[in-house]
Amino acid sequence: MTIQDARQYAPATDRNREPILEVLLKVLPGSGTVLEIASGTGEHAVYFASKLKNCLWLPTDVSPQARASIVAWTEHYECKNIYSPLELDVKEPVWVVEKQTATQWLNTSPITAIVNINMIHISPWSACLGLMAGAGRILPVGGILYLYGPFKQGGEHTAPSNAVFDEYLRAQNPEWGVRNLDDVIAVAKAERLVVKQIDKMPANNLSVVFERAEK
Ligand SMILES: C[S@@+](CC[C@H](N)C(=O)[O-])C[C@H]1O[C@@H](n2cnc3c(N)ncnc32)[C@H](O)[C@@H]1O
Repeated sequence: MTIQDARQYAPATDRNREPILEVLLKVLPGSGTVLEIASGTGEHAVYFASKLKNCLWLPTDVSPQARASIVAWTEHYECKNIYSPLELDVKEPVWVVEKQTATQWLNTSPITAIVNINMIHISPWSACLGLMAGAGRILPVGGILYLYGPFKQGGEHTAPSNAVFDEYLRAQNPEWGVRNLDDVIAVAKAERLVVKQIDKMPANNLSVVFERAEK
């Protein structure tokens, strides 16, 4: 098997990467390391890293297959401003980037933003709790947490297609499902992450941008 065989493809990436990039260009700090949680195939990572040259991109995923795919995409595009993917499970109480060895090499370019696309509805609610707790621990004041995915608003689906998708997710795993944005915002607030902006995105998704507030 060649390294290229490890590259995985998520067709939605081709459709959503440009609208997501538009938002990232507006909200991400101009420098520092962007920690991507649940990078999946790595297609977003190589695309965003190639467009955000002032940042260093740090992809992560809990899945070994995903990390192999990220390595393969990174080698394919010969990206320079992207780290090797790290194993990171958001539910862990201490993330790998908080450990001493990582904090040493992150010293020169500290994490200023966290990006998480299409994870919190395809994982148990505990993953959302872990994500917010980690973002609250790691982000500096003024740091950005960017979320992308489908959400309920006011407890209601925003489109029939999201209701169908929600049923599909719950049939895969009863702990998965489209989250209610108010619940996500409440968990974030407890970690001193306040909503900065919400943008409607294609295919009935939302971009939700949080900023780390003062203690
Ligand atoms: C639907 S994929 C999205 C991947 C990519 N962000 C995208 O939009 O194409 C969900 C990803 O979440 C990852 N994931 C699920 N639970 C996780 C956890 N507890 N910690 C970190 N990643 C997790 C999975 O391994 C998978 O790669």
